[in-house]
Amino acid sequence: MARVAFIGWRGMVGSVLMDRMIAEKDFHGYEPIFYTTSQVGQKGPEIGLDIPPLLDAYDITDLGQADIIVTCQGSDHTKDVYPRLRKDGWKGYWIDASSALRMQDDSIIILDPVNKDVIEKGLRQGIKNFIGGNCTVSLMLMAVGGLFRHNLVKWVSSMTYQAASGAGAKNMRELVEQMAFIGQASQNLLDNPATAALELDTRVLETLHSEGFPKEVFGYPLAASLLPWIDAPMENGQSREEWKGFAETNKILQIKKPIPIDGICVRVSSMRCHSQGLTMKLKKDLPVDEITEIIGNANEWVKVIPNSKEETLGHLTPAAVTGRLEVPVGRIRKMNLGEKYLTCFTVGDQLLWGAAEPIRRMLKITLEHLS
Ligand code: HSE
Repeated sequence: MARVAFIGWRGMVGSVLMDRMIAEKDFHGYEPIFYTTSQVGQKGPEIGLDIPPLLDAYDITDLGQADIIVTCQGSDHTKDVYPRLRKDGWKGYWIDASSALRMQDDSIIILDPVNKDVIEKGLRQGIKNFIGGNCTVSLMLMAVGGLFRHNLVKWVSSMTYQAASGAGAKNMRELVEQMAFIGQASQNLLDNPATAALELDTRVLETLHSEGFPKEVFGYPLAASLLPWIDAPMENGQSREEWKGFAETNKILQIKKPIPIDGICVRVSSMRCHSQGLTMKLKKDLPVDEITEIIGNANEWVKVIPNSKEETLGHLTPAAVTGRLEVPVGRIRKMNLGEKYLTCFTVGDQLLWGAAEPIRRMLKITLEHLS
């Protein structure tokens, strides 16, 4: 029976992974062993099975006995443990939600509804590292992967509206603290129905810039504002998040002649759904109906939302999509720019297809490959 090590199952992505695995009854047919970076010997998660106490996530002798390691612990842990394991001769499968090994030549970025062929070929060729992609990239490909699959895309410009969860659990908490702080500071003005909107605006602005405004984690106000920079700067003026759009999309699809992808990535005050407005130049002038069919038939989860105000506002927002596996795409139309220019808008739960779900599915694919 395969031995599967789980590391980082308690954090935000790890918890979503555990919930999804329990919901899908995934804990059978192998021996699950849980690791910890801080609570060795304590009890593991409730998964409906008897499991041994937690083991040390830095102990490579022990981890080295696993056939598969699934980790949501983060890049620092991967950078510490993974090279030591391989140096020690470990030949198992490494399935990782963090970005540490993503761009290595001996890694495949996993998003099986989009690149199952790439994953299966990799497994046959002896690839052992399968890494979850950047959430924005994965959600974009879940939404419009059909157009790439049909070789219709000349280039893409993606303008993103990324949720606080992409920055981390502490950031989600701070966003709500910021909202609460603004609410409290404005309450006496809200209590008076006669307060002028501009007076309220002045109070909110003063609050954003006030001494006690909670911004230790983000560094800046996000509530009642937005942050048009995500991750580290690159030398060419892009942010690292923007750089990933091009690098990772082309790696996921293993496209020989890379497709240009660029845009501006922006943090907004949604909790856990990333949204993106896409502009695409297509290689062919196809009718919108045909394009819509290609988008909608690409996988089980993509869902085309008709381009009406009611459907859009009812079904194409973070409030409507949070906690759901469906990836809606709407606002699909040709642009004034010309017949080959398409625009659309997509929303997806950043913690599901953007993080935990590709990892969960890759574990199943690997177990099938081993059986
Ligand atoms: N880097 C993404 C973000 C999340 O900051 O929203 C992880 O893929």
